[in-house]
Amino acid sequence: MIVLKNVCKNFDDLEVLKGVSIEIQDHEVYGIIGQSGAGKSTLLRCINGLESYQSGEITVDGVLVSQKDKKQLRQLQKTMGMIFQNFNLLERLDVYDNVALPMKFWGINTKTEEAVNKINSLIRLVGLEDKKHSKPAELSGGQKQRVAIARALVLEPKVLLCDEATSALDPAITREILSLLQQINEELGITILVVTHQMEVVKQICQRVSFLKDGRVLAEGKPEDLFIHPIKEVKAFLQEESTLLPATGVNIQMFFTDKSSDPVVTMMARELDMNFSIVWGKLEDFRSNVFGSLVINVDESVRDRVTAYLDKEGVSWEVLN
Ligand SMILES: Nc1ncnc2c1ncn2[C@@H]1O[C@H](COP(=O)(O)OP(=O)(O)OP(=O)(O)O)[C@@H](O)[C@H]1O
Ligand SMILES: [Mg+2]
Repeated sequence: MIVLKNVCKNFDDLEVLKGVSIEIQDHEVYGIIGQSGAGKSTLLRCINGLESYQSGEITVDGVLVSQKDKKQLRQLQKTMGMIFQNFNLLERLDVYDNVALPMKFWGINTKTEEAVNKINSLIRLVGLEDKKHSKPAELSGGQKQRVAIARALVLEPKVLLCDEATSALDPAITREILSLLQQINEELGITILVVTHQMEVVKQICQRVSFLKDGRVLAEGKPEDLFIHPIKEVKAFLQEESTLLPATGVNIQMFFTDKSSDPVVTMMARELDMNFSIVWGKLEDFRSNVFGSLVINVDESVRDRVTAYLDKEGVSWEVLN
């Protein structure tokens, strides 16, 4: 649905995107995560044509995103809904009129039965029927974002682009908004691209994710693959410090997926007749699947037997220094 090939973008001397290639499938929920200044918003703005890019290629549903053909670009922008951290609602309009706004902008008659039904059904979808005639000032942050989501869907886009859509919301409301996005993806089949610096967002709804740093994609994959067994840069992003590791013995980190959650460690200790101490562990929930990792400390003398045992059991592991 969205294909980026070697996209480069600079603002004068500042190179912001340095050859980004990403392929997002139809119906996918895809995440782009990275630190502030990594180029995430710029990437999103290049995709929906709000920014130009110097080289490479971006296509959405097979159509080239290019500033050269403004008419084609405008048609393409119609197929992409967008939501932001600060909601961008018009304060003087109520919920209904905010949702209807893109139709007015495109010269679509909002008084037809079809248009009225569309607007009402979206307000129902986002759960704001009882707030239909409230102004933004009378709504909570979560409710404002629901309005923005309904508005982004009113032209029946193929793609929904979300730029830090939950960054201004508290964790409980964030989960509600993410569930709503997931529901929209499943029920309406809309491809969703979320750009965020929040790990929680990616964990809860993304099927795949790219980690962007200094304008480059350094890692891509399923969230669980990226975050349970992170590369150095992702680890730094997650601020997982391994400085508290015991200085003696060998520290072995094991990675558990739902397939290998058997009590491997205790069985191994019994079978190898060895002792171990637990250094740290974590369990994380990725789209309702639990993945975990555990770091144990063992005596240097059993190192090879432990790693051979883990290999035999199909548990992936890494020795930490
Ligand atoms: N219009 C602009 N003109 C000049 N520089 C810009 C412009 N927009 C963004 N930049 C610069 O591009 C870099 C990437 O910015 P961008 O907003 O894409 O980052 P981001 O990953 O979205 O960060 P954040 O998480 O803070 O939103 C930054 O160094 C920023 O200062
Ligand atoms: Mg940004």
